[in-house]
Amino acid sequence: MKVLITGGAGFIGQHLARRLVASGHEVVALDSLLGQVHLDPEASRKAFPGNVIEADVADETAWSSVPDVDAVVHLAAETGTGQSMYEVDRYRRVNVQGTQLVGRFAADRSIPVIALSSRAVYGEGRHLCPDHDITFGSPCCGRATPEASREGDEHRPVSVYGETKSEGEATLATVAGGIPVTTIRPQNVIGPGQALHNPYTGVLAAFLAMLREGKPLTVYGEGTQTRDFLHVEDLAAIIQWALDHPPAVGEVRVLNAGSGVRTTLVELASHAGSGAPVPTHGITHLEVHRAGDIEHACADLTLSRSLGVPAPTWSTRDAVADFIARSWDEPGAPADAWDQALGELEERGLTS
Ligand code: UD1
Repeated sequence: MKVLITGGAGFIGQHLARRLVASGHEVVALDSLLGQVHLDPEASRKAFPGNVIEADVADETAWSSVPDVDAVVHLAAETGTGQSMYEVDRYRRVNVQGTQLVGRFAADRSIPVIALSSRAVYGEGRHLCPDHDITFGSPCCGRATPEASREGDEHRPVSVYGETKSEGEATLATVAGGIPVTTIRPQNVIGPGQALHNPYTGVLAAFLAMLREGKPLTVYGEGTQTRDFLHVEDLAAIIQWALDHPPAVGEVRVLNAGSGVRTTLVELASHAGSGAPVPTHGITHLEVHRAGDIEHACADLTLSRSLGVPAPTWSTRDAVADFIARSWDEPGAPADAWDQALGELEERGLTS
């Protein structure tokens, strides 16, 4: 099978492409090789095991240069939650219009499409409360406890990023009416190859930078927030499964992708410290809340299990240790780049 991977030169795309090629498939990428993500765009292009068409997914004219393929995996996206709060147009353009063009391309050729959305569509997600039963979004009262999000749950995004992912899902379902569509909602994806110099991305890259400089790990707030960390190889296995098992023509199948395990930020800091090859210096708590940040996230995997989607193989501790060990000697931004990114939010009144 020949597979087009939008955003294929990025973190998830490179892992997926290698996996597909090892299984005998051919891959081609459509990727803008954005400077914020690719420290060395030429190296990213060379690392991809197929042709890379350098173009913006949201540019209609770019699609005329894409060859015929048998399926599309749509990964290209703007992914910084905090940055989305002030770069609204850019996020909307890529994540909504880009996804619409992917849907049109696939529909015109009657080929299946697999698109990565995000758990960000759930916002604060599902809560269970002895007084108010099940609620979605911000907790109804102090007695509510967070529950793992299910695919059928209401969308309650709290960031522009989450909104664009929700709209992207909707636009794909509309445009791609006559083809099999799989929408995957990953939790926090980690692993080697993750961008290390993009201070708008995940907490673990920030922790790596701090560990390398012998600094304490900066945790925003108490560190009781939880996330569900999925190793990138486990996500690549899920995407490959989706390629091999498209839903019926015209059906939109939505799948969570996560470990199903909740990890607090304090636990994450401890896993990261254990994986570091140098002595560590504990945690510094910074009393700050970034607009668009949620408290708790975890995937419910009941539907995935019932469909036979590959279960995660990495424990959170091992996934974090693998990331730290294999990223330790890779170039990345200094720790203060994350302070600057936080400063940009503060200047715009996007922290409290
Ligand atoms: C991340 C991704 C998003 C993805 C989502 C899936 C980013 C920016 N966002 O969002 O694309 O769809 O996972 O769930 O990568 N924090 C600290 N110290 C730091 C940095 C962050 O304590 O130095 C905290 C944040 O306040 C937050 C948590 O760590 O509570 C996770 O933040 P982060 O990894 O940036 O993003 P997510 O919101 O989880």
